[in-house]
Amino acid sequence: MENKAWRDSTRRSLRRVLKEKIVSQANHLAGILDLDVALPHHYLPLQALARARGVDPQKYLRGLGCHKMAVCAPGEDTVTLAAQAAYRLLQRHPLARQRVGLCVVGTESGIDHAKPVSILVHGLLGLPHQCRTFDIKHACYGATAALQTALAWVQQHPKQLALVIASDIARYPRLSPGEPTQGAGSVAMLVHADSSPSLLSFPFSSGIHASHVHDFWRPNYNHTAIVDGKFSLQCYLAALKAAYLDFCEKNQQTPQPDFFLFHAPFPRMAHKAYRSLAPLLSPHNKHFSFLEEGLSSQVLPALWPNREVGNLYTGSLYLSLAGLREHLQPPHTSQHVAFFSYGSGSCSEFFLGKLHPSPRSHTPLRAILDARVPIDVPTYEAFCEQTLALETNQTSLPSLAPLPSQPFSFLGILNHKRQYRDNTNAAIRCA
Ligand code: CAA
Repeated sequence: MENKAWRDSTRRSLRRVLKEKIVSQANHLAGILDLDVALPHHYLPLQALARARGVDPQKYLRGLGCHKMAVCAPGEDTVTLAAQAAYRLLQRHPLARQRVGLCVVGTESGIDHAKPVSILVHGLLGLPHQCRTFDIKHACYGATAALQTALAWVQQHPKQLALVIASDIARYPRLSPGEPTQGAGSVAMLVHADSSPSLLSFPFSSGIHASHVHDFWRPNYNHTAIVDGKFSLQCYLAALKAAYLDFCEKNQQTPQPDFFLFHAPFPRMAHKAYRSLAPLLSPHNKHFSFLEEGLSSQVLPALWPNREVGNLYTGSLYLSLAGLREHLQPPHTSQHVAFFSYGSGSCSEFFLGKLHPSPRSHTPLRAILDARVPIDVPTYEAFCEQTLALETNQTSLPSLAPLPSQPFSFLGILNHKRQYRDNTNAAIRCA
């Protein structure tokens, strides 16, 4: 009898705990708590590249919408950019570091066939040992896959935080049509499901589309990407339409976002994306002025940093998010934002987020862009050679001076181990 009473009471308390857990999970929608950006210290003005390549500069400036291209100098790689973005973010959230239980890097510029970028970042940042770390790769879709993984994970671990980092260096062969669409950079995001207010929450189901195509890829033996340029544009636009329609079907509604963020390998691609989506968004309004007005009010406010950085591959969409946050100075009301993430090969996702006003505590993106230093074409070409040499020669340059505001430097490879320096305490670490 006593046993039965004990069993009943245990069952009741278990049921109560379960119910509370479900209610608390429903109350705390997973979202992005905050984000930060790291960019290479140098950029190449595309006017200079056009002149050097004998191309009308208007092709790059107007035709592609690219004005500047971020260029990595020796000492900067996928790892240092990722660690720098996350370092900045954690400096603003000092209590967050010990709560990070998942660290995922979306990247297609990995530095080793076995070792992920994430474990190097984990080491440089001193993240907890009780932390899952791994990379996710699917071309420019990697960071979105990482973000969706993290959003699901924090729902199950609401006391912990996930660190999601998009980090890439876009490299095409010199003199190829892809050359002016290079770039580099990293965006780090803290993902949570606790009661603190989100910068961005995701109340809707995503639309998905996957299809095996050879539009853009990089074989293991290549340092630069191979791309079927015109075909890649067609694949992108076909995937956009399919993912959008899947979104509408899953959510039984047509989205009415305030802003659109598209993966931007070059800014004009976002224009093309919006124009191709417009007939589905508003089938009865075909006026050119309506389209152009929508473009300037719903797309351009997020696209301004992409014009000054170039392609970040998987970070490109999230650089636009940082651009939109900066555009919407507080106080502003919450805004619905549509995202289209495209990863060549291909996998893509159309999703909707709610962007909430956030007090400005981060370094403005404008200031990060303005702190960079322009270089000329011979210097860009020399940097490409030198960074490639550091990747392939078994040498290390411990005397390499840190670039301004760069917390970590890549020094080269010794005994097949990558060498990094923590410039915040001058310690050299082998990866
Ligand atoms: N003044 C103004 N505009 C000019 C001009 C001039 N003098 N000369 C050309 N243009 C315009 C062209 O009309 C064209 O615009 P539209 O597409 O609107 O007609 C634009 O400039 C580009 O000109 P081309 O199409 O002739 O350029 P291209 O063939 O030399 O290369 C590209 C363009 C194919 C995009 C090439 O840069 C490339 O291969 N880039 C890499 C691949 C890429 O970014 N693909 C995007 C989809 S895949 C993806 O998104 C994943 C990813 O991140 C890679």
